[in-house]
Amino acid sequence: MKKLFIVLLAVFLASGFSMAQSGIKKTRPHPNEYGKVIIDNYSEREQLAPVVYDHWLHRARYTCRLCHVDIGFAMSANATGIKAADNIKGEYCGTCHNGKMTYRGEKIFSACSNKSNHEDAQGCNRCHSLGKNIKMKQDFAAFTGKFPKERFGNGIDWIKTEAEGLIKLGSFRKSCWRLIRRTTLWGFQAYR
Ligand code: HEC
Ligand code: HEC
Ligand code: HEC
Repeated sequence: MKKLFIVLLAVFLASGFSMAQSGIKKTRPHPNEYGKVIIDNYSEREQLAPVVYDHWLHRARYTCRLCHVDIGFAMSANATGIKAADNIKGEYCGTCHNGKMTYRGEKIFSACSNKSNHEDAQGCNRCHSLGKNIKMKQDFAAFTGKFPKERFGNGIDWIKTEAEGLIKLGSFRKSCWRLIRRTTLWGFQAYR
């Protein structure tokens, strides 16, 4: 598995995020759009806006491996087939976005709910945000301002950024996390 992952990673690094889901190769996405994934297997069908997932925001906090091996997200847009029910059960996005887990002392907002009236529309919009003018809590330029730069990808030298201690990547093993989750509601900090 590890080997396969490294091969996938190499392929990914060589080709870059191609924005393959749109079928159109953009000349060069804006730095904040590099690694943006639009997830829409079911949302529009359910009259919800498609989900916008940003890699920069998450890869500044966690290792690739945590999401792509331990949590099990596919390395291809829309290939995982995430359902609202999975998120509610604490799988996929809901592993972290469960309204309980904390990141640096703040609760991570929760993912889907099965309330049919979508009463927490504002909360839903944070992920089901394509085409909506949602102000993100973190601004790319402000967030990455002090990070070492490079020419590729979204312009950030992530390896150097981590080496200089500007970010610390969390990587918990799911099985271990689950075991602990059953017994305590420790914050996420314990795993970083
Ligand atoms: C917090 C979780 C998370 C982290 C961390 C993460 N990813 Fe992803 N990644 C995702 C999700 C979610 C998708 C979309 C999967 C889907 O749509 O089924 C994705 C999709 C991808 C894709 C496919 C993109 C496309 O447009 O088809 C690649 C390639 C990828 N990730 C590589 C990486 C690499 C390399 C890293 C580490 C530098 C990384 N990811 C870190 C969650 C993550
Ligand atoms: C490994 C944990 C983890 C996973 C898995 C994860 N996230 Fe996150 N996500 C976070 C953390 C931590 C934040 C930052 C929360 C904050 O700043 O308050 C965040 C922030 C976000 C934000 C930013 C909202 C804003 O207003 O700034 C969006 C959107 C988001 N996640 C969507 C998703 C989606 C969609 C998925 C699944 C495809 C996902 N996340 C999976 C941990 C995770
Ligand atoms: C943390 C991110 C996140 C938040 C917040 C979120 N969702 Fe989702 N939701 C997803 C992802 C990812 C999918 C899969 C999208 C797709 O493939 O179309 C999804 C899919 C869905 C679907 C369609 C799939 C199905 O299984 O029926 C429904 C309905 C849904 N969400 C309802 C909601 C509602 C209602 C809210 C607000 C209470 C909400 N979601 C908030 C991430 C989120």
